[in-house]
Amino acid sequence: MGKRLNNLDALFKPKSIAVIGASRKPGKIGYEIVRNLIEYGFTNRIYPVNPHAEEILNLKAYPSVKDIPDKVDMAIISVPAEKVLDVIKECGEKGVKVLVVITSGFSEVGNEELERKLVELAHQYGMRVLGPNIFGVVYTPQKMNATFGPKDILPGGIAFITQSGALGIALMGWTILEEIGLSAVVSMGNMADIDVAEVSEYLANDPNTKVITIYLEGLRVGTGSRFLEIMRKVSLKKPVIVVKAGRSERGAAAAASHTGSLAGLDKMYDAAMKQAGILRALNIEEMFDWARAFALLPLPKGENTVIITNGGGAGVMATDAAEDYGVKLLDPPEDLKDKFRKYMPWFGSPKNPVDLTGMATPKEYYGAIKEALYDERVHNIIVLYCRTAVCDPMELAKAIVNAVSEAKRDGIEKPVTVAMIGGKDTANAMRYLNRNGIPAYPIPERAVSAMGALIRYMRYLKTIKQVIKELELKV
Ligand code: ACO
Repeated sequence: MGKRLNNLDALFKPKSIAVIGASRKPGKIGYEIVRNLIEYGFTNRIYPVNPHAEEILNLKAYPSVKDIPDKVDMAIISVPAEKVLDVIKECGEKGVKVLVVITSGFSEVGNEELERKLVELAHQYGMRVLGPNIFGVVYTPQKMNATFGPKDILPGGIAFITQSGALGIALMGWTILEEIGLSAVVSMGNMADIDVAEVSEYLANDPNTKVITIYLEGLRVGTGSRFLEIMRKVSLKKPVIVVKAGRSERGAAAAASHTGSLAGLDKMYDAAMKQAGILRALNIEEMFDWARAFALLPLPKGENTVIITNGGGAGVMATDAAEDYGVKLLDPPEDLKDKFRKYMPWFGSPKNPVDLTGMATPKEYYGAIKEALYDERVHNIIVLYCRTAVCDPMELAKAIVNAVSEAKRDGIEKPVTVAMIGGKDTANAMRYLNRNGIPAYPIPERAVSAMGALIRYMRYLKTIKQVIKELELKV
């Protein structure tokens, strides 16, 4: 009987992986997992296991995991449910550390007993279990794509933990399209053993992860308070953004039948999550909008935000959004207004939103942004741009990146989010911004919402630190 492993290193940094149920046929799950592992560039050892195969994708195949002439850290199991227990026993005898059980047909369809046996058997041998009923796990710093999802996941600072398999796989593809860089993708499935809290705790200490995003449907009965307790600690180290599905009554019922867990009362979830320091996004788009800002930007040092725009309408929409998302707009003092006036015609507005007018070129933007960056009273900057013929979007993107990096060289780091409204060339300019560390969005509201998330997290950390300080004074 082995000692149960508490460290998830074997899940994220395995030295060797066996794929049990590796198929000879392209298009089958067991084949695609081996293909993803190879093609994404996993440099440690991969061992296909299949009693009917000599070789799969040019790798020698073994009839059983026990025949592999090497230690095996992780076993990915992709055989039908009725074969899983036999395979797990062999993994235990082999000394495997962690099992990634892809197979469906457990508690999600009422087969609680088989799931209980699966975990019990794994624990007898000291093995941990991810799943069952999952699409796998990705950890980009190790070039490990142990899934049957899309292959070319972009590396970056966002970890994505998902309780929904199909949605998770779909979103992996979407992050590639949107050029969102990920550190990890973890499919949780039925959470028979390893759960969201434990994975979050591991990723909170992972230097490659800057922000943790979670698609959550519901927790297993009896794990709620532990979840909140752990997440409270995690959110002090890294921002955690959760989309909680099943907000409506019918949605909650669907979530309960989908993963075999209970969806809680939405309002209570909301309050509990806030207390644990979790940022709750309304939908997936918002979650990744915020995550991108956290992954790329420094945290705000204060509340004072300045909006710089070339269009009055965009400025008004952003001002409304600022109120919605709790973003405080600075009333610029006279001397700061004078600084902004240098970059606008007489009919512009140096108030906040600072309206450079439709005459603004990248030069005026650059000047105004630098004033805001170098002024101590300004903490956060939101730049809005409506496509005009006098201001090339790519030139503007370069001007913004230059302003921010020059300030950085002078030791000034402030969060800057951008919204660019326009056509194809603005989309290219936004891509350039994102690739160069500035999150850019196609509408003002999303740039404001992302800034709002940074500010709320900053407030939370400040409050908690203050509370801890006060408590410690009283001891
Ligand atoms: N050890 C190793 N390999 C074995 C063993 C064994 N004991 N027994 C059989 N195999 C081989 C098979 O011969 C086969 O290889 P082959 O294709 O070369 O003949 C391979 O393992 C797979 O076995 P099959 O019986 O063909 O099983 P199949 O691939 O059809 O299904 C699977 C297995 C994928 C695990 C299926 O049972 C299942 O659970 N599918 C759902 C998975 C899923 O969706 N998970 C949730 C993901 S998230 C989402 O919702 C998208």
